[in-house]
Amino acid sequence: MVDFKAIRGEFPILDQEIHGHPLVYLDSAATSQKPECVIDAEANFYRTINAGVHRGAHELAARSTVAFEEARAKVAKLVGANAEEGQEEIVVTGGATAGLNLLATAFGNASLGRGGEAAKRFALKPGDEIVVSRAEHHSVLLPFQELAYRTGATFKWIDLTEDGRVRTDNLDEVITERTKVVAVTHVGNTTGAITNVAPIIKRAHEVGAVFILDACQSVPHLKVDFHALDVDFAAWSAHKMYGPTGVGFLYGKRDMLEALPPANFGGSMVELAYMDHEAQYMAPPARFEAGTQPVAQVVAAGVAAEWMMNIGLENIEAHERSITNELLKLGDIEGIRILGPRENKDRIGTVAFDVAGVHPHDVGQYIDAQGIAIRVGHHCAQPVHRHFGLYASNRASSGVYNSVEDAQALVEAAKGIRKFFEVE
Ligand SMILES: Cc1ncc(COP(=O)(O)O)c(C=O)c1O
Repeated sequence: MVDFKAIRGEFPILDQEIHGHPLVYLDSAATSQKPECVIDAEANFYRTINAGVHRGAHELAARSTVAFEEARAKVAKLVGANAEEGQEEIVVTGGATAGLNLLATAFGNASLGRGGEAAKRFALKPGDEIVVSRAEHHSVLLPFQELAYRTGATFKWIDLTEDGRVRTDNLDEVITERTKVVAVTHVGNTTGAITNVAPIIKRAHEVGAVFILDACQSVPHLKVDFHALDVDFAAWSAHKMYGPTGVGFLYGKRDMLEALPPANFGGSMVELAYMDHEAQYMAPPARFEAGTQPVAQVVAAGVAAEWMMNIGLENIEAHERSITNELLKLGDIEGIRILGPRENKDRIGTVAFDVAGVHPHDVGQYIDAQGIAIRVGHHCAQPVHRHFGLYASNRASSGVYNSVEDAQALVEAAKGIRKFFEVE
């Protein structure tokens, strides 16, 4: 039995009052809080081994390089990826957004003929198709929409069911022989719905398309194995999985990474550089890690990955499911509509809701006055909100440190909103 109360005690930030109430943090989909071990790992790196990695012949540089690569291996283990030297499948990025832009830029470079024969599988031209879903965060939607504009490819999307799930009943129509790239979220950041990705990946591969998974909202909450899923690429951020800000990871199947041309250029990614002819770039992952990396943050993200694995992803999932149960009771309140699946099945504890007649910013302030932190706005997913006939909403989202009581506190507070604003 995991003692989740003790786990909550590992988060110093949660031990405070907001507006005279104990803090209830229900905004983990935006960013998670950090346990003491992650905070310490980052500080200790600076205290004891700070040095540039993969360069310098001194002992500190050697130690920081080992710490950096060990962190990569821990992160790889969390998502079922390879980490052996020469077979690495995890690239360090500045976050999910940076990882997704890296891919879109690299595909654009391949479309210009960069990367040679091997990179042709990523090249796009007019008539080719890029497919996303309407559930996407803007960090998937926009880089791939821009890629379509740059290459002349056609931009298409898979629509949603009434309750906000990515549809899988018309995949043959949307993903066609012309489709070259399919990018879909694993879990909707507004709806909390877990996408049934298997048929989408199967269809993408059937037509020879590259499949990219946005794993931002799945890796922190579910046991994820990229090999088992058979995704070609996946991107996510460390700060949503109890790690630091400013760092994220891009998974790529080894053969995909080897074929992909670089997107960012500079130090530490080049084998040979000349004035008068083309450079020779390093093998992955270094090819994609130009410049000085956020080493302390990567080391701390490795600690976060290990910390999650020690708790057990199945345990995290089960614990958060009990919180989701309570959060879904928001939908039982008169005048409140949940944007996403109502049943606690194939979803996580991210529950967006609309309060009839009350602007989300007013809702957020009312809830905040009671010490409860939720997100309001469009959550960087405007097309999802349009699907529900809205521009913005309120969103509660759980983390491993939340309790059923936290969710109950929100539901109790929500019962008073419409009365307070005199709309009932
Ligand atoms: C589903 C999803 N994708 C991508 C992102 C972008 O992550 P980041 O802002 O850390 O780059 C987020 C963050 O909110 C997200 O929820």
